[in-house]
Amino acid sequence: MSEDSLPENRMPVIRVPARPSDQNPGGSMFGGWIMANVDIAGSIPALKRARGPVVTRAVESFEFRKPVFVGDLVTCYAEIVGEGRTSIKVRVEVFAERMQAGDTTCARVTEATLTYVAIDENRRPRELPEA
Ligand SMILES: CC(C)(COP(=O)(O)OP(=O)(O)OC[C@H]1O[C@@H](n2cnc3c(N)ncnc32)[C@H](O)[C@@H]1OP(=O)(O)O)[C@@H](O)C(=O)NCCC(=O)NCCS
Repeated sequence: MSEDSLPENRMPVIRVPARPSDQNPGGSMFGGWIMANVDIAGSIPALKRARGPVVTRAVESFEFRKPVFVGDLVTCYAEIVGEGRTSIKVRVEVFAERMQAGDTTCARVTEATLTYVAIDENRRPRELPEA
């Protein structure tokens, strides 16, 4: 792992330890587990911006830069990077902290950009309220 540290002055939206039940046979964490956490993390600023339900419409990019291992503490940051009439684009960055032998290392492991759409009671796109 690199010597990166968690970003200062940013509030994480999710912090979760990587557990053995979610690992690959090869020993690193299952990509689908990371993707699920990224989707949940990205939905939080979208939900707050939309002030109502949102659904994931598109995953525009998704990059697994480094593996995550059991025991790592996974931290997701999410920020809105764009919006349209009904849609909200969110960038998610994931860091893993590894605590071993009294030492902690940290690396940026994943980044992704996703688009969420605000929906109404009929599950149709809903115009975003004023910011
Ligand atoms: C979300 C959904 C209601 C949108 O319906 P739709 O008929 O595609 O609606 P529209 O074509 O009007 O597009 C809605 C918005 O999404 C945007 N959009 C559509 N396709 C997109 C794509 N591939 N990438 C990024 N944005 C996209 C549009 O630009 C529009 O944004 P805007 O209003 O800000 O300009 C519908 O696609 C849906 O229900 N999808 C399934 C969602 C789902 O189950 N997700 C997984 C679980 S949460």
